[in-house]
Amino acid sequence: MRADELRESYIRFFVERFHIHRPSDSLVPTDDATLLFTGAGMNQFKEMLLGRGKLPFTRAVTSQKCLRTGDIPNVGRTAGHHTFFEMLGNFSFGDYFKKETITWAWEYLTKILKIDADRLRVSVYEDDQASYDIWKDEVGVPEARIHRFDAKENFWPADAPTKGPNGPCGPCSEIFYDQGPEYDCGKPDCGPDCDCDRYVELWNLVFTQFERAEGGKLTPLPSKNIDTGMGLERTLAVLNGKPNNFETELFWPIIQRIEAAARKEYERTTDVGRRMRRIADHVRAVTFCIADGVLPSNEGRGYVVRKLLRIATNDGLQLGIQHPFLHHVVDEVCKIMGSAYPEVKAREDYINKVVKKEEFKFRVTLKVGLRTLRENEATLKERGVEVLPGKILFWLHDTCGLPTEVTESSTELIVNE
Ligand code: GLY
Repeated sequence: MRADELRESYIRFFVERFHIHRPSDSLVPTDDATLLFTGAGMNQFKEMLLGRGKLPFTRAVTSQKCLRTGDIPNVGRTAGHHTFFEMLGNFSFGDYFKKETITWAWEYLTKILKIDADRLRVSVYEDDQASYDIWKDEVGVPEARIHRFDAKENFWPADAPTKGPNGPCGPCSEIFYDQGPEYDCGKPDCGPDCDCDRYVELWNLVFTQFERAEGGKLTPLPSKNIDTGMGLERTLAVLNGKPNNFETELFWPIIQRIEAAARKEYERTTDVGRRMRRIADHVRAVTFCIADGVLPSNEGRGYVVRKLLRIATNDGLQLGIQHPFLHHVVDEVCKIMGSAYPEVKAREDYINKVVKKEEFKFRVTLKVGLRTLRENEATLKERGVEVLPGKILFWLHDTCGLPTEVTESSTELIVNE
């Protein structure tokens, strides 16, 4: 299945069930000043979920552009973490609740996408007996494949009752695809809550029924709502039998562009593959950010864009690419994503120029910064020091413009966060 077909089929499935198809919000949230970036489909509906907003409908479906900075350290290292990704979601504002959400999700995965039901596992919040019973009795999932987890895994936002943030939240139920024992990490307790690549989390069904306030107080919302999020890239990988999102049509042409620039073949398991995957992810994210008006700068959202470009520039340099090339990667991103998101196609030339200029400038900084790092490293090694002192890490970041991630991936010394 192609990415465009998956997006369309998801939206069609829920439109047929009387959902209104709403466009993706910008990566810069329209209505939520508390957020740096849109990180979930529900962001544009926050006021509705809290029972404060008014919309002329009670069911919605979206394909939402999302950006999460928390996963930056994982990108390229795992099969399925991204900064920018697309979240497919269906929403109910005081309309249907657990039963429809769970049974439709199962129907969509197993009947429409035809994913083998025996490969699916589900989880519920530890004391959510109602969801457990729907999975067991209405859907017929064997109990051995229904897991109960605590608030870290099965509350959304994760651990919201104890850690926040304030706002709409609730227990959730997740659906995982089992890639098979060959992907098992070998730990005795490896299961859907393990971080390894065996179980791919496809879909999170959130039963948004509380508002969390300072101190962890959960107040029931005026109505019970639904907020779901399915990872488009992960689902596409599963549907096409790819063990890694970067090997799907959403990324593969980008990787090929990087291979051509580096005159190196992609290697799934080495540093070469890790760097290529990271460049592909970060340039995709930057392309969408600039299309939504976020330019590289030294603070806030702009700093995230600058940081992603700097990491990608360093990866390019470490792959042996001697000249600015990320703007060519932008062209590939626009080609792949332009039909679903015309804004990136419309601003392609501009994005291209911004990225080229930023990479050019940073390459100069990077050469000086890395030379300074090498000199410091040599002195420290002579003295038998194994850990890079925090003040040098900070100085490299603050004075030489080397992001911590770049220092980390370029030094042989240990870097403590
Ligand atoms: N809002 C549901 C999710 O992000 O998983």
